[in-house]
Amino acid sequence: MYCLLRPYLQKCRRILSRVKPGYVLFFFGVIALLEFFGVFIHLFEVTYDENFAYPYEGNVHDFVNALRRNERPEIEPINEYKYTFILKQPQKCKEDVDTLRLVYVVKSALENFDRRTAIRNSWGIEKRFFDVPVRTIFVVGTHPDDEEMDARLKLEAAIYKDIIQADFVDSYYNNTIKTMMGLKWLVKYCPNSRFYMFVDDDMYVSVKNVVTFIRNPANYPFYLMESRKVYNAHKREIKRSDLVDYESVDDSPASRNATYNSKASEIKSSVRSFAIHASTNNSGMDVSEKRDAGNGENLTVAGKRSPESSAATLNRKKRQLFDFELPDDVRLFAGFVFMRSAPHRHKFSKWYVSLREYPYHLWPPYVTAGAFILSKEALLDLYYTSFYTKHFRFDDIFLGLVARKADIVPFHCEDFHFYKKAYTKYGYKYVITSHGYDDPNELVQVWNEQKALGNA
Ligand SMILES: *[C@@H]1O[C@H](CO)[C@@H](O)[C@H](O)[C@H]1NC(C)=O
Ligand SMILES: *[C@@H]1O[C@H](CO)[C@@H](O)[C@H](O)[C@H]1NC(C)=O
Ligand SMILES: *[C@@H]1O[C@H](CO)[C@@H](O)[C@H](O)[C@H]1NC(C)=O
Ligand SMILES: *[C@@H]1O[C@H](CO)[C@@H](O)[C@H](O)[C@H]1NC(C)=O
Repeated sequence: MYCLLRPYLQKCRRILSRVKPGYVLFFFGVIALLEFFGVFIHLFEVTYDENFAYPYEGNVHDFVNALRRNERPEIEPINEYKYTFILKQPQKCKEDVDTLRLVYVVKSALENFDRRTAIRNSWGIEKRFFDVPVRTIFVVGTHPDDEEMDARLKLEAAIYKDIIQADFVDSYYNNTIKTMMGLKWLVKYCPNSRFYMFVDDDMYVSVKNVVTFIRNPANYPFYLMESRKVYNAHKREIKRSDLVDYESVDDSPASRNATYNSKASEIKSSVRSFAIHASTNNSGMDVSEKRDAGNGENLTVAGKRSPESSAATLNRKKRQLFDFELPDDVRLFAGFVFMRSAPHRHKFSKWYVSLREYPYHLWPPYVTAGAFILSKEALLDLYYTSFYTKHFRFDDIFLGLVARKADIVPFHCEDFHFYKKAYTKYGYKYVITSHGYDDPNELVQVWNEQKALGNA
């Protein structure tokens, strides 16, 4: 063997003897760098579009439907988060059973007492609106060795009755467990709300904009701008003939197509035209505040109807803009969506993912985890589909994987800011959420200022 190779080895030695050590070092340096940035891993990635499959592989719809009907599915679930609730607040959704509109599930870290206080005093206030019943609940895990903190948490929970705790270790890489225990609690103890919103404890949230968004996600925030036009027209007493009759326009399928923007395929298909709702009563979404709303305009203008004249037409128009309600069975999963983003392959990244863990070159579409909204149907489908989705440690990716299996297309909206949107007094009008409010005082201050402007 050695004899056979000898001529080559000699040649090799001759070549090597001419190579300067500097080049060799440089060469290996480049290799190491490429390795560090995961270039070699990229070479072995599997193309997402053609090959994507993720356990459980196969159609899960029948199993999910069986679970939803409380029947035994043909195939046993492959993944369940069977942690025990230590604190479970079963009373939380017992009132307003028929009218509950929105439940905030705040993913909080055990030690963030101040942030929870700030949220209770700002966007988490439950009695904000007369007629929009809202609940706020915090989800935490445990710190098994810290009895003092646990005692403090139990005290807080006893006072506010808004903390649910499950017996998993509260840490960043257990975020998926936290999210899924949140979903589990909702399905078990609070399945009667129309919408649910998962939020981190360092987020700014405009309750007003959330409530507006869930009425008509496909047109947010443009329909608000439209209403301002109507309002301005009213102020200037524009002639009746200048007004577009929404009822007749919106009834034609062509204009219905034009009304909804193409990216919202799922919502578009389940959305009905404004005109349908114009002929029925307001569904009790009169967003008038119990307390002074500052200079804020009322969200719903559909109150009293002036008997005749252009004012009546204007009222009708406004009603059509606001009397809009998504159908009960809409599967809304909304937030800031990454449709096609790639896994981090450089080592030492907080988000490094090995090929073994996830082999594809792209993630499925996913909503960034800081804030997302689910309709009731989406909650139930995602929850039961998760039983057939292999665990993944990033919660937003995990829900993306689950959503893909459930055939729910995440709905994108720019007004969920997953980074911190630089704060200016007049730049936050349409902001639904913004990340980066880890200072509780700043959160309360910003929220109060925006509330006074009628934006929160
Ligand atoms: C996640 O929680 C489980 C259950 O408490 C625990 O065994 C595990 O160590 C935790 N993982 C991390 C990364 O903290
Ligand atoms: C509306 O849009 C759908 C899908 O984009 C299309 O199939 C349909 O023909 C359109 N209808 C009209 C009336 O334009
Ligand atoms: C609309 O509401 C009014 C009072 O709230 C009620 O008298 C009327 O019957 C309702 N109409 C319909 C169509 O439900
Ligand atoms: C909002 O609605 C309430 C109750 O209907 C009313 O008293 C108030 O004047 C309205 N505010 C504005 C700014 O229109």
